[in-house]
Amino acid sequence: MIFKVTPASACHESDVTPEAIYLSRRALMAGGVALAAGAALPAWGDAAQPSAYEGVEPGRAPAWFQAKLDDTRWQAVTASGESITPFKDATHYNNYYEFGTDKGDPAQNAGSLKTEPWSVVVDGEVGKPGRYNLEDFVKPYRLEERIYRLRCVEAWSMVIPWLGFPLASILSQVQPTSRARYVRFETLQDPATMPGQRSSFSYIQWPYEEGLRLDEAMHPLTLMAVGMYGRELPNQNGAPLRLIVPWKYGFKGIKSIVRISLVTEQPRTTWQGIAPQEYGFYANVNPQVDHPRWTQARERRLPSGLFSPNVRETQMFNGYAEEVAPLYAGLDLKVNY
Ligand code: MTE
Repeated sequence: MIFKVTPASACHESDVTPEAIYLSRRALMAGGVALAAGAALPAWGDAAQPSAYEGVEPGRAPAWFQAKLDDTRWQAVTASGESITPFKDATHYNNYYEFGTDKGDPAQNAGSLKTEPWSVVVDGEVGKPGRYNLEDFVKPYRLEERIYRLRCVEAWSMVIPWLGFPLASILSQVQPTSRARYVRFETLQDPATMPGQRSSFSYIQWPYEEGLRLDEAMHPLTLMAVGMYGRELPNQNGAPLRLIVPWKYGFKGIKSIVRISLVTEQPRTTWQGIAPQEYGFYANVNPQVDHPRWTQARERRLPSGLFSPNVRETQMFNGYAEEVAPLYAGLDLKVNY
């Protein structure tokens, strides 16, 4: 699919990362001078917040990721004028119930997740079903950086520089049949490494499941992320492969994906299964449709605190209305929340 950029989130030629910053980033990834000196690298084009990349550790990226990083299309999409959330917040305030229900639990516990080797099963209505090794699955594609707003249904938000591939490209290679109408995703189920799946108090029916309509999945903003902040995904953020749909509430962004199924019927999704009156299949960010227990008109942009709550108005479709509103023409968004 051709990527059609529009003013709200477009990248212009002038946005291309300056070479000096790119080289600093490479030094950071190699654990080089910048990191050793404890220097904070600037978020590109974002001089107002020089510390967003502070504490970005080099990680242990697989060789294929490092090789692709050299050819990344930086800032392919930006959240213009908004500061990037500090790496520390994005990696220590998480929802990943397989590793615990407190925001700090995933950072604490997800180290046990084994992300290499990793394979993804593709099945259902596709011409080329199979079990794909992750490296082979993403081999044909160039990494893109997408700086997106992330709005959680719990009314907090962040701005995160993801690295990944358009889901549309990945789906095209497995050739959905004409019967495919939805895409279903599934997270790893491995109680041995995921303490939340061993808990007898858990009300989640594992594995975590999510789904999209096929046209939502094929939309150019929909991303399969493998990295963030110029490095591979930390485990707590869904390594090695997660979904990012920036105009939907964060719970649609299923982590550590092991199965992608093209299906004919709308799939069951984890949160809709738990509380259908609170969490819908669509889960489009919508300030006019409140959660039954709180307003969705506003959000707390992290980092926030008692004396600087950093509250802002929530935007329709999380600020991506220009790009995605046509997907929902004629649909009652109060009913299809
Ligand atoms: N994926 C899995 N497998 N398990 C989860 O608990 N939580 C979701 C989503 N993906 C979740 C998940 C929710 S509620 C949110 S808001 C986002 O992940 C949070 O992503 P983050 O921790 O990277 O900010």
